[in-house]
Amino acid sequence: MQLRVTRPAYINAMVQRGYKADESFGLKASQNEMRNHVCQQCHVEYYFRGKDKLLTYPWTEWPKNRPLKFEMIEAYYDRTQKDGSFKADWRHKTTGAPMIKIQHPEAELTSSGRHTRIGVTCADCHMPKVKMGSDLLTDHNLDSPLNDLNSCSSCHKKESAAQLRKMVSDVQRHTYSELSKAEYAILALIGDIKEVREGLENDHGLNPDEIDKVLNKVLDGHRRASMRWDFVGAENSAGMHSPREAWRILKDAQQIARKSQKQLKKIADDRGVELVLTGQGAIPAAPEQIHPGNIVGSMPPDMTIGALVLMAYDQYFGSKRALAWHQSMGMLVFFLYFGRIVLMAWFGKPEALGTRFEKFLAHMAHLALYSILLLMPLTGLLANLARSRDTDFFGLFTIAGFDQRNMQLYQMAIDAHSWLEIVCYLLLAAHVGAALWHHFVLKDDTMKRMW
Ligand code: HEC
Ligand code: HEC
Ligand code: HEC
Repeated sequence: MQLRVTRPAYINAMVQRGYKADESFGLKASQNEMRNHVCQQCHVEYYFRGKDKLLTYPWTEWPKNRPLKFEMIEAYYDRTQKDGSFKADWRHKTTGAPMIKIQHPEAELTSSGRHTRIGVTCADCHMPKVKMGSDLLTDHNLDSPLNDLNSCSSCHKKESAAQLRKMVSDVQRHTYSELSKAEYAILALIGDIKEVREGLENDHGLNPDEIDKVLNKVLDGHRRASMRWDFVGAENSAGMHSPREAWRILKDAQQIARKSQKQLKKIADDRGVELVLTGQGAIPAAPEQIHPGNIVGSMPPDMTIGALVLMAYDQYFGSKRALAWHQSMGMLVFFLYFGRIVLMAWFGKPEALGTRFEKFLAHMAHLALYSILLLMPLTGLLANLARSRDTDFFGLFTIAGFDQRNMQLYQMAIDAHSWLEIVCYLLLAAHVGAALWHHFVLKDDTMKRMW
């Protein structure tokens, strides 16, 4: 079968690297090269450039038929940082360093592996031949080669399957060990930068921009160390695709982090900021687990229901159709709230934030809000039925009115309905107000937890 590449951005990037485009097959390349190209269209590092978010590959200077070195990608991002065309993917919240997020550079790392040197391609390892009856097919499941070591045994004849697995896991274990050493070294650097930033701000009155300038070299070190750690961490083979290159990159990450700590120490000493260098950084606490109750306690249903309640208000337009609409909306709110209460009873609800008194207030307000959102439709429905009127739900079904009119019951129900309405709007205002208060004044996570 003749393979093709179809992604325009990839074809353009490969042409820049010296390959020739081909109208029918995307690139002029041998069948064996194609068995890499088809996968490399996606399994590479890329970024989105400029306002139009143009898909761009940072490895266009990677010479044809040569292994990629991590430093080529680094040099590329150095250049785009300097000329301002792409400065960073994100800014680190604690250190302020402009960071690059590496995606999944399988193609780049694999290119320096010894398997690539002897012509083994992505498809050779990840698409083993499988027998289906008398046919020999290529497995298209694209998963871990460890699930089917057939593709390896043509060369690794001497090793048993168990030995091959062991060889792979030896490589991966060593990668993880180096990866976590790099991680701890970078965490130590982050913690120390935080200390010095605070010292420069509190004791020297520098603003964040001025601190960025003073720490320029160190922040650059954070960027470079982290980019290396990310390059190997985001690559999906845990170093297997090119063990020695992965380990070299991780060793460099550790060295850069340590060197940056020393530079930081010198700056701190020069400026009279006290700093005891951290030996091994601490892993930050994992974020709070999302409570399953959040599925029901979340903002989108809140807003939907809020909007429905407001839409139910349009009875005051007076026409018969508006009234029927109002009644259907009212019932919809009832069903949604009833469903929500059932779900909350099932999952439990998220824990409120704040002091005990605030939690008590929040609890009472919610109780009142839930009761009212159930009572409003019920009293409205009762009033309608007591007047012997049918109540229609969007033409889907009708609840028949009482045979005998009961105007006393009607009056009681409609009075309750009107009073509840006022209370309902007050509670809604308090509810929205409290959410905004949590977000903008207390600056806690209540609002985020509602999403
Ligand atoms: C169009 C983009 C694209 C192309 C082309 C592509 N992949 Fe992928 N591949 C992905 C994405 C996206 C995932 C992650 C899927 C997920 O986790 O849901 C993935 C996942 C994988 C996985 C991991 C699967 C697992 O079980 O976790 C392997 C292995 C893989 N691809 C190998 C290949 C090989 C080999 C080729 C070429 C023959 C290839 N891919 C071509 C996009 C692509
Ligand atoms: C020498 C064989 C070999 C070659 C060539 C090879 N891989 Fe792999 N690949 C592996 C092994 C082994 C693993 C580790 C599998 C594991 O840990 O379960 C792996 C892991 C992966 C994973 C992660 C799979 C998972 O289950 O999470 C992806 C994605 C992947 N390779 C893509 C590629 C791409 C793309 C290429 C070509 C650029 C390529 N590989 C070339 C052997 C190979
Ligand atoms: C085309 C032949 C060929 C294929 C196919 C092949 N290998 Fe290899 N592999 C080699 C050679 C050659 C070496 C280097 C051996 C040496 O230096 O002793 C090697 C080395 C390795 C190493 C040692 C790690 C390293 O880089 O030093 C591992 C692990 C490995 N192969 C796993 C696999 C797995 C798993 C597969 C199948 C998914 C596979 N190989 C498929 C030829 C192959």
